[in-house]
Amino acid sequence: MRRTKVADAVRAEAPADAVLIQGWVRTRRSSKGVHFLELNDGSGPETLQVVVDADLSGAGEVEQSATGAAVSVEGALVESPGRGQTWELQAREVRLLGAADPEVYPLQKKRHSDEFLRSIAHLRFRSNKYGAVSRVRSTAALAVHDFFRERDFYCLHTPILTASDCEGAGELFKVTAQDPERIAEKGYSPEEDFFGKRTYLTVSGQLAAEAAACGLGQVYTFGPAFRAEDSNTPRHAAEFWMVEPEVAFAGLGEIVDLAGELLVFITGRVLSERGPDIDLLSRFAETDLSRRLESVRDQGLHRLEYGEAVRILEQSEREWTYPVFFGADLQTEHERYLAEEHFRSPVAVLNYPREIKPFYMRENEDERTVAGFDVLLPAVGEIVGGSQREERLEVLQRRMREMGIDPADYEWYLDLRRYGSAPHAGFGLGFERLVMFLTGVGNIRDAIPFPRASGQLEY
Ligand code: 4AD
Ligand code: MG
Repeated sequence: MRRTKVADAVRAEAPADAVLIQGWVRTRRSSKGVHFLELNDGSGPETLQVVVDADLSGAGEVEQSATGAAVSVEGALVESPGRGQTWELQAREVRLLGAADPEVYPLQKKRHSDEFLRSIAHLRFRSNKYGAVSRVRSTAALAVHDFFRERDFYCLHTPILTASDCEGAGELFKVTAQDPERIAEKGYSPEEDFFGKRTYLTVSGQLAAEAAACGLGQVYTFGPAFRAEDSNTPRHAAEFWMVEPEVAFAGLGEIVDLAGELLVFITGRVLSERGPDIDLLSRFAETDLSRRLESVRDQGLHRLEYGEAVRILEQSEREWTYPVFFGADLQTEHERYLAEEHFRSPVAVLNYPREIKPFYMRENEDERTVAGFDVLLPAVGEIVGGSQREERLEVLQRRMREMGIDPADYEWYLDLRRYGSAPHAGFGLGFERLVMFLTGVGNIRDAIPFPRASGQLEY
């Protein structure tokens, strides 16, 4: 018999005589010769009530089916006389697949702290909250692919091992095939290492995506990025996933539009496919999660110039920890003020001072700013960073030198400007920050299954 999913069983349209349910016991109680099991199988946040008569053969197995055990139950799906559920399963056969010792099984309580659940990341998929976060994450990931597929983008796989520092921020993990002992003894010489040069884990797939876009037209990459940032904040992970589209013949306006459409598309998809999970997550979140998501789906992005953002912050009469002036990089406190309090919606900030942005952003006519943008979200802050790319060879070379980058290391990237250079633009969306926004979780470590941060590498 094929397994019926709990999410389908609880929404059945009619009773069914022979149903097979397999899942993990959330709770078990017994009264007057009857056992009640609440089963969840990960198909949704719902549980199905299973009723087992104490004199059923195999009911002995139920005695061991405490919270956490894996069980298999066959029986009839019938209307439930009890309150709180429409259907229940009247068991004919119960099998214990795997017991869980109630003395030591960690997930006994209904509600555990995020910190505790993080310490048992391998088991938290079975908790209410992380089950829901995981399902929303999956729906959002598939929505990314659907979004680009609908628009005829090519899906591109960019390298994870790389020789270049795309962001020029020096937050690279160094990769070597040499033993630390050998390095300690003989010193490190890149020439003798595996690739014959210094090697890193990628911080972004952008440079490779630019090459692909300048040939394929429009591409996106959705892959892992690695940053050895020591900032132990609730918004930074050492390993995270990024969605990076790159579009030939596009300028700043078009690429900002694309970022807004992507955000609206994913939010809409999560609302329509993950309603029960969003309802559950709303109970954990500080704000009305579904209202917030609906308003993003319906309103999209608000846009403003960087200069305007600075004026709003200066006039806000707030005491900022980091000072605000034209030329200052916006900090999380500023980003959240703009998105959360001033505009109460996602905001795209355009045309930043060139000093605070990477070498590849296109210099504007005013020679003070670059055609770059960030998207800021309520509760999360920066979620997207992107720009029109500098397609003029000489300007790009000058910018690289100004920023202490040797153009000789980027000959292939400069070739894109030597042969058929075309205007193009792209952005990177931090996928975990998106998941934080979609689920209301306040810490990035709860938006990725197995988080990696400075000093933390379990699993
Ligand atoms: O703004 P960033 O650094 O931009 C880039 O890497 C560009 N090369 C992207 C591009 O244009 N193709 O990073 C993009 C986004 C940020 O807005 C943020 O959401 C996320 O990536 N991000 C991080 N997320 C989690 N942990 C970190 N340490 C992150 N660093 C950046
Ligand atoms: Mg950025």
